[in-house]
Amino acid sequence: MFGEPEHFTLPPIDHHDFTGDTLGRYHLDRRVGYGGVASIYAATCKNTGAIFALKVLHPEHDSNPIAVQRFRQEAQLGAQIRHPNLIPVYDHSWLGGRHFIAMELVEGKTLTEELARGPIPWERSTAIACQLLAGLVALHERGVAHRDVSPNNCMLEEVDGRERARLFDLSHARVVERADGLVLGLAPESVPMLIYGTPHFIAPERLRGSRGDFRSDIFEVGALWYTALTGAALPDPLGADPVSVAQRLDLPPILHAVLLGALEIHTRRHHSAASMLGTIQKALEDIRGRRQRMRRLKTFAPLLSLLAIPVWFAARNEPTCQAPPAIPKPASQGAEAPSVIEARSIVGPIGIEASGIVAPAGVKALGIEAPSGVEPEPIPLPTPEPTSVWLAGEPVQTEPPRRERAVSNSPFNLRRALAKCKPHPTARIEITISPGERVQIDGERPTGELGRCVEDVLTAHPPHQAETIKL
Ligand SMILES: Nc1ncnc2c1ncn2[C@@H]1O[C@H](COP(=O)(O)OP(=O)(O)O)[C@@H](O)[C@H]1O
Ligand SMILES: [Mg+2]
Repeated sequence: MFGEPEHFTLPPIDHHDFTGDTLGRYHLDRRVGYGGVASIYAATCKNTGAIFALKVLHPEHDSNPIAVQRFRQEAQLGAQIRHPNLIPVYDHSWLGGRHFIAMELVEGKTLTEELARGPIPWERSTAIACQLLAGLVALHERGVAHRDVSPNNCMLEEVDGRERARLFDLSHARVVERADGLVLGLAPESVPMLIYGTPHFIAPERLRGSRGDFRSDIFEVGALWYTALTGAALPDPLGADPVSVAQRLDLPPILHAVLLGALEIHTRRHHSAASMLGTIQKALEDIRGRRQRMRRLKTFAPLLSLLAIPVWFAARNEPTCQAPPAIPKPASQGAEAPSVIEARSIVGPIGIEASGIVAPAGVKALGIEAPSGVEPEPIPLPTPEPTSVWLAGEPVQTEPPRRERAVSNSPFNLRRALAKCKPHPTARIEITISPGERVQIDGERPTGELGRCVEDVLTAHPPHQAETIKL
């Protein structure tokens, strides 16, 4: 029921294995995974030989229009929001009596599978958390909250000798803010959202009935990061305070503080994935700098070893939070995907232009509206450019907002300086200031990095009159 907590339970492992079947031009070669919503197959396109991952909706959901609509929305979001740390969707269709999504097949393992081998050292755990945050930044920039960040929904693969983490499974995603250019086949709030996800990773406010937003995703990344570091999941956040549970970790203190900031209650949590990512990057720069200085002192190594130098400074692995390479796009996949459906009219590709995605006519004709036996049209392929933080190869925000010394602008413009504190360009905040009184943000006392940034600006430039600034 809407608003009520509900956890999904996985169907039995032999549930719906359609290996060997053919859906249109796709041959289902082998099942590579399954979840509560669907099974995933490695599938070969008979026309081209290209390999895809086909996510096939479990048949028991076929008669549930909401499940089918959400499946379609999952495809639309995955097709339109591209980032190296997400998995691109190329097609969505109803063929051979099955609803399915075609996407890139990732040859790797889930974080859950990796954790079966035990906890992951902090350098690597942090790099995984960073990469998932980068994927989240891309989603959040387009107004979409993922709402099921968990080790089950994180794939790890090796690309050019480096590990890359990919966040996937947008089946529970929610369009929180309608961003320009996002084409969806259903109104974001028209479908009641069940509150379900992966136990131990769901943010406490969602367990209490909130629909979940960007900060709920931040909690989930924090819970995942904790699990990667310890090999154990957090207890139910309604039963135990996650911040207290995560107090003792083998993590440099500055990063530990960032992790605790992700597990805080909603209002005290990091206000955006971009700022959390920026804070981690800054922390890692500091740690690398300290290590370099330590190396310069290596002639004194015997003496240093007598001192209690924390183990994480002595570790050999350099901690990184690097931009991954762009997703390599096999020509066959990219070229084939829009023409998947042999029958009927083909929808032209969506092109990402400077202002966003231009929608072609016909997008509405997807999914359950298709009468039985008629093949619906494919999801149009957008230009597969990464859309967000890593676009220019450099993070948009490499430091937490409070470090931006906007106040040095000349001539000083208070509104512009405060705008630089916003967690992301589409965020809406209302700042109420009055001489000699504490600033209020959206009617509340300032908290987190946003609060610190706003207070920094106002400390440097105390207001002379009361005013409310809407940004
Ligand atoms: N693109 C992919 N490439 C390879 N394996 C995948 C891919 N997508 C999903 N999987 C596998 O299938 C499993 C279930 O996929 P998921 O999308 O999470 O389904 P559900 O929505 O039912 O939870 C994943 O945990 C993973 O093992
Ligand atoms: Mg899943």
